[in-house]
Order: sequence, then C-alpha cells, then structure tokens
Amino acid sequence: MLAPGSTIGILGGGQLGRMLALAAARLGLKSHIFCPPGDNPGSHVCDSITLAEYDDAAARARFAAAVDVATYEFENVPVDCVAEIAARVAVRPGVEALRISQDRLTEKNFLAGLGIVTAPFASVDDAAALTQAVARIGLPAILKTRRLGYDGRGQSMLRTVLDVPGAWERVGASPSILEGFVDFEREISVIAARGIDGSIASYDPPENLHKDGILAISRVPAQIPDAIAREAAALTSRILTEMDYTGVIGVEFFVLKDGRLAVNEFAPRVHNSGHWTLDACAISQFEQHIRAICGWPLGDTARHSNAEMQNLISADVMQWSALAVEPGLCLHLYGKDAPRPGRKMGHVTRLFDKSGTLVR
Ligand SMILES: Nc1ncnc2c1ncn2[C@@H]1O[C@H](COP(=O)(O)OP(=O)(O)O)[C@@H](O)[C@H]1O
Ligand SMILES: [Mg+2]
Repeated sequence: MLAPGSTIGILGGGQLGRMLALAAARLGLKSHIFCPPGDNPGSHVCDSITLAEYDDAAARARFAAAVDVATYEFENVPVDCVAEIAARVAVRPGVEALRISQDRLTEKNFLAGLGIVTAPFASVDDAAALTQAVARIGLPAILKTRRLGYDGRGQSMLRTVLDVPGAWERVGASPSILEGFVDFEREISVIAARGIDGSIASYDPPENLHKDGILAISRVPAQIPDAIAREAAALTSRILTEMDYTGVIGVEFFVLKDGRLAVNEFAPRVHNSGHWTLDACAISQFEQHIRAICGWPLGDTARHSNAEMQNLISADVMQWSALAVEPGLCLHLYGKDAPRPGRKMGHVTRLFDKSGTLVR
C-alpha cells in the first residue's frame, strides 16, 4: 500500500486528472501531472507538473523517476509512452487495457472473444471496403474511426445509401469500423473498480442521455430491473478480470428492447457518467481509482441519494451564477479558459432522496 505522502503520476491534464488530483489530495497523497502545453485544468490543482509532449523521452524518464505509481486520465496517451513509463514504475491500469480500448476494432474483437454482445461491426480500411461493409451490416449504421474518436467525434451516421458516398472522407479517410445502428431502449453504464487483490466493487449503473454524441445527463438509479443491473455488473467484472485490471473502468451499455445487454465501449479510466459519485456517495469514483492504484482497500460504493448529473457543455457554463444560487445544487467547474463548441466546462449534480424529493 502506498502511504500518504506518496506521489501519484497522472498522464493527461484534463478535468478527469483534475478530479483525480483533488481526490488524491484528500487522502494526503501528492499528484504529478504529465501533459503537453495547453489549457490543462488538471495542472491547476496538482503538486507538480511535467509539461512536455508524450514522445519526449527525457521528460518521460523524469516523470517516471518522480512518481510512486502512474495512471492515465484519457485513453489516447500513446501506448509506447505508457509502456516506457511502465518499464520504470508501476502503471495502473496497465498498458494492455489502453492498447485494447484505444482501437475500436481491437476493443470489439476483445469483447466478442469473451462472448459479449456488441453492435454488429465490420472493419473498413478504404472506401471500397465501406461499400462491402454496408452490404454485410445493413443500414442504418455508424462509421467510426478506430482511433482518437471521443464525444461523438470521428463518426458519421449512415441512414440511407445516399449517405454512403463521401462517408469515408467525412471520417478523415482513416481506418474505421462500421457499426450497425442499435435501436436501443436506453443507455446505461457501469463504473466499477478492481483492486490490486482482484476484489471488485461497482456503483449502481446510471442511465445516460446523449445529445449530439456527447453525454448530457446521467441519472441514478436507472429505470431498469435489478436483474439487468446485476448482469451489467457481472459483464464488467469479466472484462476487468480478463484484463487483470487495477483501477476504475467505465463500461457503456445499450439495453436492447428485448432486455438483453450489448456493450458499446469501455474507457480504462474514471468516466463522465460516474461524476455523480462525487456528491451521492461517500467514496467517489475518483477516490476509488486512487485507492485501487495505491493498493488500498476499495471503498464502499453505496449511494446515499438518488442523483442527476448534467454536463455544462460550452456556453452552458455562462449560467454559473444562476446555478450557484440553486438550493442543494452541487456545482463543479473545471477552470478551463475557452468554452469552445462541444467542450465540457463543468457539471452539476442534483441529489434526491429515495422518494424523489430534491435534497437541499
Ligand atoms: N451502434 C450504435 N447504435 C446506436 N447508437 C450509437 C451507436 N454507437 C454510438 N451510438 C450513440 O452515440 C454515442 C457516442 O458513441 P460512442 O461509440 O460511445 O463514442 P464516443 O467514444 O464518442 O463516446 C453513444 O453513447 C450512443 O448514444
Ligand atoms: Mg461513448
């Protein structure tokens, strides 16, 4: 177990790194963020910073020497960078989870290998392959780049054959997958953690509403039977155990109209749909991740309230002063400078007691 006073290295300087650093601080741990120059809200609240590109070998060596354990707060840190740091200091979760989740094709094949249901998919490496994939998967479908997509970016919806020409170019003519469109009943996610000893703890799955491909609202509890919640947790446990994972994971599910579950994707990190745990649980997903990677016992995932988390995207954040006067509202602002379109600037959580009354 890493004792208080130890230093957590975090690759990535976004809001997830910021909330991890704050959770580490509460436990008397220090944080050291490695991120390229830019608007890095994580760097405002950590103890030390390595400001460098991920391919800067000297900076990587300095970072590895300065931390007692390392983690990453987003899945697009280059695998080579993380592998090199992992040769010098423990990186949790490891390189394997990153490698799998960085590439939508590898991720889908991994899930299929575990017998887990996903959307039907086909690999698309050029415009001709797209035509073949459409013939196989059918329409509607979504073309997604294999790498570097997030918040709905790098995706093109194909509703009819008229949308097929030009779609390859619309996703940047990069290696992609075509996914059959899933006519789901709802979307849920499981935020779970696996400790160094292999123990697993899951939070209650929230129900997630997306707008323009970006998470807008997470509500807990989801309107689903207990059996579905249990199955989602069990599938998440299999994914965690198969990867010999340490830390928090976010697994996104489609609940199909017949009640079956399909996995959409997973993120090897704390997840936006788990932000409500900051206010509705004694131990948040951020503290849980810090506990796991430091070899501490996992914390209690019980929820003391029902909750609704709403992202403040872009100009939404201008309402901060009105939100600040709302009784009982938990306001979280990330300290980013530019509210560019689609940018996550903060979030708010409203808590409700189990009868549905707003907690003030
Ligand atoms: N195959 C699909 N069928 C139906 N909806 C989808 C499908 N893939 C993605 N979506 C919708 O788009 C959202 C974002 O897609 P996702 O694959 O999770 O990408 P990102 O990495 O940007 O989160 C999903 O949460 C879901 O609402
Ligand atoms: Mg997603």
